Amino acid sequence: MTPTPPPAQEALPGAAVDAVSHCMRTLRSVRRFLPADVDQATIDFVLEHTVQAGSAKNRQPWRFVVVRDRGTMATLGGWYRRGWQVMATRIRTSPDAGAAAAEHMRQMRQGLALTEHLASAPVAVVACFVPIPRNPANFFGGASIYPAIQNLLLAARAVGLGATLTTIQSLDMLEDSDHASLTAELRAILGIPADVVPAAVIPLGWPATPFGETRRQPVHAVAYAERWGNPWAGETNLALAGDCRA
Ligand SMILES: Cc1cc2nc3c(=O)[nH]c(=O)nc-3n(C[C@H](O)[C@H](O)[C@H](O)COP(=O)(O)O)c2cc1C
Repeated sequence: MTPTPPPAQEALPGAAVDAVSHCMRTLRSVRRFLPADVDQATIDFVLEHTVQAGSAKNRQPWRFVVVRDRGTMATLGGWYRRGWQVMATRIRTSPDAGAAAAEHMRQMRQGLALTEHLASAPVAVVACFVPIPRNPANFFGGASIYPAIQNLLLAARAVGLGATLTTIQSLDMLEDSDHASLTAELRAILGIPADVVPAAVIPLGWPATPFGETRRQPVHAVAYAERWGNPWAGETNLALAGDCRA
């Protein structure tokens, strides 16, 4: 359902609102790609919209390494596969094996597909965070790059490109990590300076599988009215507008 436009006429036309809604509601991870290249103009379109994101004090603490070279993509694929092996080993040997680990493994199986297909993506964008004294690489510093990454995913979705946001190198940051090498290896593969933090590796390509609709908790399960815990009474779980389902 298209929201009624407010009197102040900055709202997009209804069809454009439906299109934005459709993009957001079908922004699924795509992990299998057709063997077709992505042209330069399409990549430029995606990057142009990536860098429109906001950041703290408009510092724009980001750089994007765009990889298309097949040799480098193969190396990235091997690097990512190793990251998943590290993760799988952690889960198998975790003290809370059993139900939690089983659920985690179930989640991981989906992601496992990418270990086979990342190298065959025509493009990967490695989004990097450039820390500065008042914008350190912590939770709040990171909040200045992930909006740009979300823009990238949305712009890609809009032109029909599939993508998956991955942060496998964040395994290095786990308190009990004994594998502090994934970030260093990624830096070495791409020549990223030591003071720059790779925030995400995002394979991009024409999807070999349909996007489908996202499956998320309904708003009333996660939103409160005025104070924590007060039920949200609004209408939630809106169906996609009819003309967006095609
Ligand atoms: C911070 C973050 C890290 C993620 N890391 C990975 C990853 O390493 N590998 C992967 O295949 N998917 C990764 N994903 C994608 C999630 O698995 C996906 O967003 C989630 O399961 C929802 O599924 P959907 O995209 O199909 O709706 C990541 C997503 C986020 C937001």
